Amino acid sequence: MKGCTEILIGAQWGDEGKGRVVDALAGKTDVIVRYQGGANAGHTVIVGSEKHVFHLLPSGMLYTGKLCIIGNGVVVDPEQLLLELQELQAQGKDRARLVVSRDAHVVLPYHKVLDGADEAFRGKEHAIGTTKRGIGPCYVDKYNRMGITMGDLVKPDVLREKLSQNVNLKNMLLTRIYGMTPLPFDSIYQEALEWGAKLAPYLGDASLEVHKALEEGKGVLLEGAQGTLLDVDFGTYPYVTSSNPTAAGGCIGSGVGPTRISRVIGVVKAYCTRVGEGPFPTEDLGEWGDYLRDKGGEFGATTGRPRRCGWLDMVALRYAVRINGLGVLALTKLDVLSGLEEIRVALEYSLEGKQYREFTPSASFLENVKPRYVSLPGWKEDISKCRSFEELPQEAQNYVKFIEEHAEVPVGLIGVGPGREETILRNF
Ligand code: IMP
Repeated sequence: MKGCTEILIGAQWGDEGKGRVVDALAGKTDVIVRYQGGANAGHTVIVGSEKHVFHLLPSGMLYTGKLCIIGNGVVVDPEQLLLELQELQAQGKDRARLVVSRDAHVVLPYHKVLDGADEAFRGKEHAIGTTKRGIGPCYVDKYNRMGITMGDLVKPDVLREKLSQNVNLKNMLLTRIYGMTPLPFDSIYQEALEWGAKLAPYLGDASLEVHKALEEGKGVLLEGAQGTLLDVDFGTYPYVTSSNPTAAGGCIGSGVGPTRISRVIGVVKAYCTRVGEGPFPTEDLGEWGDYLRDKGGEFGATTGRPRRCGWLDMVALRYAVRINGLGVLALTKLDVLSGLEEIRVALEYSLEGKQYREFTPSASFLENVKPRYVSLPGWKEDISKCRSFEELPQEAQNYVKFIEEHAEVPVGLIGVGPGREETILRNF
């Protein structure tokens, strides 16, 4: 692990349990980097009876001596970041050193207002179901070369000029297009300056920090947010987020070159969930979907929205293996399936008499396909105390082996409960 970089990504629609897997790995690595997304994410880490939900901070913050980095690819909501930092500080748990890339873009109040206005414009029929955290509009400004970076927050003159240009344009949009009230420049500017003053000690050259760590032979873990099927390039567009949660995004969002990546870890939940709108071929709208939601506590960590639930989709998982070059899987929430008589897994899709084994991210295709399921026998036992693969009931072992066989990737970590200890490691 030393001197090399691993990327950890979500292999489904997000909420796979990446936070708990990063937490399990963080003890063995030195640097943890968030590389894309923003406060739309909610990474939950449970240690003993304590639960921490990180929206922006990397999930390694609870470990002493680690370096945690918010990379250039993240869009930072400073208010949320300060809130998370203050919470950890108040509990004496800000144990890691934090560096925030000066080049990461800032989510400003107008991004959140526009996120809501865009969704309202799309209407019920075309809404994406965003988290309304301003993510899309902030990335729009970044790619339109109008964005404000974290580094700008500590340069009052630069900030004034860039912000006034932005507020002017956004106010034209808000008033003339959306018929809304304009936002006040002065208070946004003052607030942004305050953020800059508070966050200045954390700002730095993030990619250089990572590079130096690698040169010193240290291990680096790039922590993805959301998941493969929400990727703006490879997900179920337009029902996606506005960044690249896939492995390639890890290089762009951190400044680590592809030749330094040693392994890509895909986090996959033992069943599927999705929050927001968009196609979900294996969604179960009946009693099993409700069962998984209740038993798995499937409610958004950021918005509290109930997650849509369904069965494991091997067509989609094989796609995630392909797009991310996955070398190993971390299978989470296997315990949620305990007690089910049968477990369904989709192996292929059918549409108009044709069978499909390859995932195509086209929303119109996925909305119409019918999954072809196989049914595997379930198990009754509580597996949360199992700490080795062999201790799992035979049916649970078979389920894991079935996933490995069809994904053609080994399962190196199995989550059998939400806690840090409730983990089975297999040559991970
Ligand atoms: P946005 O990222 O807020 O623009 O939302 C775009 C889509 O991605 C919506 O369907 C959200 O529900 C979904 N999404 C964004 N972040 C997450 C996440 O962390 N977990 C699961 N879904 C997410």
